[in-house]
Amino acid sequence: MTTWTPDSWRALPIQQQPSYQDQPLLKQVEQQLHRYPPLVFAQETRDLHRQLGQVAQGQGFLLQGGDCAESFNDFNAPKIRDTFKVLLQMAVVLTYAGGLPVVKVARMAGQYAKPRSSDLETIDGVSLPSYRGDIVNSFEFTEAARQPDPNRLVTAYHHSAATLNLLRAFAQGGLADLHQVSKWNMGFVESNPLKDRYHSVAQRIQEALRFMEICGITAQNSPSIRETQLYTSHEALLLNYEEALTRRDSLTGDWYDCSAHMVWIGERTRQLDHAHLEFFRGIHNPVGVKVGPGMQPDELIRLIDALNPANTPGRLTLITRMGADKLADKLPALVRRVKAEGRTVVWSSDPMHGNTVKASNDYKTRDFEAILREIRSFFAVHKAEGTHAGGIHLEMTGDHVTECTGGAYGLSEHDLGKRYFTQCDPRLNADQVLELAFLIADTLSASR
Ligand code: PEP
Ligand code: CO
Repeated sequence: MTTWTPDSWRALPIQQQPSYQDQPLLKQVEQQLHRYPPLVFAQETRDLHRQLGQVAQGQGFLLQGGDCAESFNDFNAPKIRDTFKVLLQMAVVLTYAGGLPVVKVARMAGQYAKPRSSDLETIDGVSLPSYRGDIVNSFEFTEAARQPDPNRLVTAYHHSAATLNLLRAFAQGGLADLHQVSKWNMGFVESNPLKDRYHSVAQRIQEALRFMEICGITAQNSPSIRETQLYTSHEALLLNYEEALTRRDSLTGDWYDCSAHMVWIGERTRQLDHAHLEFFRGIHNPVGVKVGPGMQPDELIRLIDALNPANTPGRLTLITRMGADKLADKLPALVRRVKAEGRTVVWSSDPMHGNTVKASNDYKTRDFEAILREIRSFFAVHKAEGTHAGGIHLEMTGDHVTECTGGAYGLSEHDLGKRYFTQCDPRLNADQVLELAFLIADTLSASR
């Protein structure tokens, strides 16, 4: 194996990159980003690594979620706040009902680059470059908007910085106080069949807090009640952006990709001899890899060896995204092999990307029932194999969008047009996320 440097990936084949016309401008932007401050601090990244190490050993649960693609237009405080809230609320339900610490990782503050199934999109006979996320080009279907623009790399950096700043303020500034979280009233609670269950969990949390208060443990003297730790993550697709934010930690001398605490490689860019694997092997962040139904056990072991040769718990999260109908068939062989070879990984379930369908009215959607079925199947496989179902990876938002069908409100295909705002994949809305939290919590406690 050759020596790793932050730019050693450049010598290898790479998939899913935009083709920029203005190469001198691209170089200039990359150099600019090199000089900018890192977005996260290596020590925080090591904390996440340690917590994921516990998850890998069955002592915790990873909750990862957020937009499919963040957008420059839809960039405002209420949106960040609402997604933060729904993530936290889901974490509280999972922690309480599942009886395990929940590690919270947002798909936010950097989730701007999208892999696409085709380089071109054709509408009414006109073909233009596909939309690849706001860090690359604009969603609008015009020649000018679809041209990849290097300046967008800098804009994405600033949007990420501002998002992260607000997330940190929310996490540490009082919004995450457990007294508040269990009291938040989501629309869901009002007219939902799960209303009583939610109230009962919220009530039990309030009682526990009252008891602790009597014992002298209060929000004033115990940061763990008042504050939370929310980490950030995104698919590290554009390696020039990631390289520019990769820095050597002054404390340890190790390299960290400081664009986020955790980064992952998508299903389309995880080829063993390609650039993304090369870049990822040298950074010390905890990393994820998406694992689709085509993954073979031998290939998976080689991938694990490339990314986690020292078998350090917490370094590698395998995010399976197989589809509700395929998972029970494909996952057991992988889990068995990883276990037999003594590799320690976090197994997490992305129940979204294998369950995308086209509705009869052409909307790209996902059915709540299929999402739940993939999650339950994931838990069942791990239970049967004696391994830990360690986490869940969701595309979700705090907004009341109508992008996925089903759930307690019974959203139908005909409702999709009402509030369909995603620029990429359909997301679960706040009600659907919270409902899912309860259903997963049941499975989680039953499987323990
Ligand atoms: C995604 O997470 O948005 C994504 C593109 O996933 P995958 O790589 O699993 O298709
Ligand atoms: Co997606």
